[in-house]
Amino acid sequence: MARPTPLLVVEDLHVSVSDREILRGVDLVIAEGETHVLLGPNGGGKTTLLNTIVGLPGYRVTRGRILFKGVDLAGLDIDERARMGIGVAFQRPPAVRGIKLRQLIEVAADGRFDEAMLADLVGELSLENMIDRDVNMGFSGGEMKRSEMAQLLAQAPDLTLFDEPESGVDLDNIAVVGAAMTKLLKAERAGMTKRAGLIVTHTGHILEYVNADVGHVLYSGRLACRGNPRDLIAEIARHGYDKCVECAICQM
Ligand SMILES: Nc1ncnc2c1ncn2[C@@H]1O[C@H](COP(=O)(O)OP(=O)(O)OP(=O)(O)O)[C@@H](O)[C@H]1O
Ligand SMILES: [Mg+2]
Repeated sequence: MARPTPLLVVEDLHVSVSDREILRGVDLVIAEGETHVLLGPNGGGKTTLLNTIVGLPGYRVTRGRILFKGVDLAGLDIDERARMGIGVAFQRPPAVRGIKLRQLIEVAADGRFDEAMLADLVGELSLENMIDRDVNMGFSGGEMKRSEMAQLLAQAPDLTLFDEPESGVDLDNIAVVGAAMTKLLKAERAGMTKRAGLIVTHTGHILEYVNADVGHVLYSGRLACRGNPRDLIAEIARHGYDKCVECAICQM
């Protein structure tokens, strides 16, 4: 069987933030149609990796490279990367004063927007209370995550990075967020790129709602372990991150 086409290739990535090296040689390949999970201790650099892929300012690549659809992302701005098909649900989404959620969804949809699409999103994600408010201004934790999902569904990226999508979300809303993630990841269009994703999680609760193929552990600035996501989470819960690196289930 032919191997799936790589969508994202991260090679020997070193990243510094405020002159401190956070990532020290990350290698990662996500193929079309795959969903990967990223685990790792607090402060280990998971958000740093996602924000670097997205192209947020302040994350300095000092060595290595990131290829998306075969194109080296070095020098490309965040909006160019978004247009190429990279989307992100931030761990802590910023509030945007003066921009209504409705307007942001319209911009994210980039020409595919119509009122029926907006009505569907409002219904699916219960946005009635948010759609005409400034983005994330005073939104509760769960409301912010639903607002992020609405923007992503409008954008319809080929690769979506989810940074702790279940954090601060109640049990009812995890199902709603999970359904939106599955829709984002599984939507298939004839002849187009198959969608892929990278999900950062600590608890793995979101994996009750979203299928994932591979898990990685980011430890000491590198991807130190690779395996079945659920097995990795169980192993970490039993033995902690220090032992995970030398665990028996690692497939690296
Ligand atoms: N702007 C910044 N200035 C200084 N240090 C920073 C900055 N941004 C991130 N860092 C540091 O980089 C390290 C990695 O942070 P990052 O947010 O990537 O970790 P994480 O793995 O996502 O952690 P968590 O699980 O807590 O979300 C942390 O020590 C953090 O304090
Ligand atoms: Mg983080």
